[in-house]
Amino acid sequence: MSTLPDAPVLTLNSAATIPQIGFGTFQIPPEQTRAAVEEALSIGYRHIDTAAGYYNEAGVGEAVNGSGLARDDIFVTTKLRNYDQGANRAREAFERSLDALGLDRVDLYLIHWPVPSADLYVETWEELIRIRDEGLATSIGVSNFLPDHLLRLVDETGVVPAVNQIEAHPLFHRPELRALCRDLGVVVEAYSPLGQGADLADPTVVSIADRIGSTPAQVVLAWHLSVGHVVIPKSVHPDRMAENLAAAAVALSDVDADELNLLHREDGRVGGDPATFSFPQTLEDMKARGE
Ligand SMILES: NC(=O)c1ccc[n+]([C@@H]2O[C@H](COP(=O)([O-])OP(=O)(O)OC[C@H]3O[C@@H](n4cnc5c(N)ncnc54)[C@H](OP(=O)(O)O)[C@@H]3O)[C@@H](O)[C@H]2O)c1
Repeated sequence: MSTLPDAPVLTLNSAATIPQIGFGTFQIPPEQTRAAVEEALSIGYRHIDTAAGYYNEAGVGEAVNGSGLARDDIFVTTKLRNYDQGANRAREAFERSLDALGLDRVDLYLIHWPVPSADLYVETWEELIRIRDEGLATSIGVSNFLPDHLLRLVDETGVVPAVNQIEAHPLFHRPELRALCRDLGVVVEAYSPLGQGADLADPTVVSIADRIGSTPAQVVLAWHLSVGHVVIPKSVHPDRMAENLAAAAVALSDVDADELNLLHREDGRVGGDPATFSFPQTLEDMKARGE
């Protein structure tokens, strides 16, 4: 088993703990997912992020259930795809996700995107609250929610999401949205934490890595950890999986962290814009988009 340091944990507003470094599985093909997640677990990851819209929940479940690890020692997140918003559809979709995963509960269930044009996210959130209250999801949260969406959920239901999983990385770290999450007690889970690789070539990142004797990916991930983010980097390469998990042991000086804070650009986004992203996330839709 791994000799890497255990990933640190954060406590969510549900009182559950979440390993601060997780393993992302977006764009890992279904037939490769079991092996990739088995590798991640053997390296020491204890937090796996999947989604109904990734069509690889079955591979995640096979790896988790076949790992020999206690269920409570692995944090599993999945997400409701856009096509399944609305109370009844959400319940059925959640049950399909549990079936695909082969689990009787998930640690975290997220609304994948707000899809404001459909205006179903409040009704969907109310169903997630019921799912949580039945013990089927230990914590519930959202993903890609902008300030208006978050404030409306809290205003209309009184239930604050445990996390908001958002695109965040040094070149696009969204100071205002993160500040609102902090004020509400919502943990920020940074997706595309490496900017899908784009941040790794940034000259500031490269020069800090050279100076402190780590890799660019570790500098970026250490920055996330220092500002209190959960991170879910994805790699299909065991050496990179280990490199990313080992970022927990990399300490940045305040000066280095401040330099990284200055890299934010409003045009640094690598993923979809939640204000307009409304793809249904069906398999046909994903294939058409090359995902
Ligand atoms: N909620 C949402 O809407 C949403 C959207 C996007 C992603 N996510 C989640 O966030 C996870 C991570 O995001 P992401 O996959 O978009 O981007 P990412 O983790 O920022 O970057 C992944 C890319 O970086 C490469 N990489 C990983 N580690 C590396 C290292 N140490 N050195 C050099 N290159 C490295 C990977 O290549 P190799 O695989 O070839 O190593 C891959 O091309 C996803 O898997 C998914 O679970 C959520």
